[in-house]
Amino acid sequence: MKIEENYSLLNHNTFGIDVKARYFVEYHSVAELVELLQMDMVKQHPLLAIGSGSNLLFTKNFDGVVIHSKICCYETIRETDKHIYVRVGSGVVWDDFCATVAERGLGGTENLSYIPGEVGASAVQNIGAYGVEVADIISHVETVEIATGKTRLFDVSECEYGYRTSIFKTTLKNQYVVTAVEFRLDKIPQFKLDYGNLSESVASINPLTVKAVRDAVIAIRKSKLPEPSKLGNAGSFFKNPLIAESHFNQLRRQYTTMPFYRADGGLVKIPAAWLIEQCGWKGKTFGGAGVYEKQPLVLINKNNATAGDICLLADAICKSVSNKFGITIEPEVNYI
Ligand code: EPU
Repeated sequence: MKIEENYSLLNHNTFGIDVKARYFVEYHSVAELVELLQMDMVKQHPLLAIGSGSNLLFTKNFDGVVIHSKICCYETIRETDKHIYVRVGSGVVWDDFCATVAERGLGGTENLSYIPGEVGASAVQNIGAYGVEVADIISHVETVEIATGKTRLFDVSECEYGYRTSIFKTTLKNQYVVTAVEFRLDKIPQFKLDYGNLSESVASINPLTVKAVRDAVIAIRKSKLPEPSKLGNAGSFFKNPLIAESHFNQLRRQYTTMPFYRADGGLVKIPAAWLIEQCGWKGKTFGGAGVYEKQPLVLINKNNATAGDICLLADAICKSVSNKFGITIEPEVNYI
């Protein structure tokens, strides 16, 4: 393992913020990770495990140890009549995994195609798109406990998955590092096409294949979302807020076209993109930061933005949504 010091994280966060980590190390196996966790350098400094940094906003230099998985295994581990279970290393690029299983005709990941990031972070963040969340196809998550270096296997039922959240972001935050994820894939794909215009996009394709749905999802994402390699961003900056039915009824009287989705517990989900657009932020810039003109839920690094520019813009957006609608929107992106 190579220990880098005073290391630029520019290529490790999709916002393209040039901050430094005091130490940066990549590990290639569970054994290397365990060895790393035992080093004094790790025990004496704050530790941050990152994937490809596609959901992070570094607000300052990180005075600690940043670690990054290069565990890149991919293996089929068991098979039943309906399913194939694959075990995938946390360092595998998420969309490379989606492409591999789509080539095999296995169902489950197609709606999640082209999401930036890596497999380990997908299981922490519970990535989701087009009506599917990764929790729907996870069976187990393999981890190492930071304090002890012991391995622990989490069944999906123990991961407390919810909308863009898991136990690894809440009660067990910064306590475990994900080393591999076991996915349950469908031999006979069960397509979920009821989100937005996905069914329209594939309507003329017969017979429908995993690859065709994947291609349609990629085309939709490319038309709506900026490529991080061309324009720094971290996908949706905010989560879609959930509000009480009474609050919703009151707002709906005033804003008759307000889009909404019914959610569990009598709550109503409102697209944050709509709220932000109504507040006049779409396409606006602030210092080097901006609000993407095709999808205002995405904040962009338009012109050498500093983290400060992005934070100020995000705060200003939250305030105006709160003032206009009485709704608190929360960042989906993790501030470091
Ligand atoms: N909308 C507007 N103006 C716009 C764009 C959208 O008002 O310019 C409204 C429309 O009513 C639209 C609604 O927002 O119907 C929803 O838009 P979209 O389908 O683009 O989805 P989203 O709710 O904005 C979520 C995820 C995305 C995911 C898409 C598709 C969150 C925080 N974001 O966005 O995930 O790709 O659905 O499933 O849940 C990410 O997490 O980084 C991400 C990109």
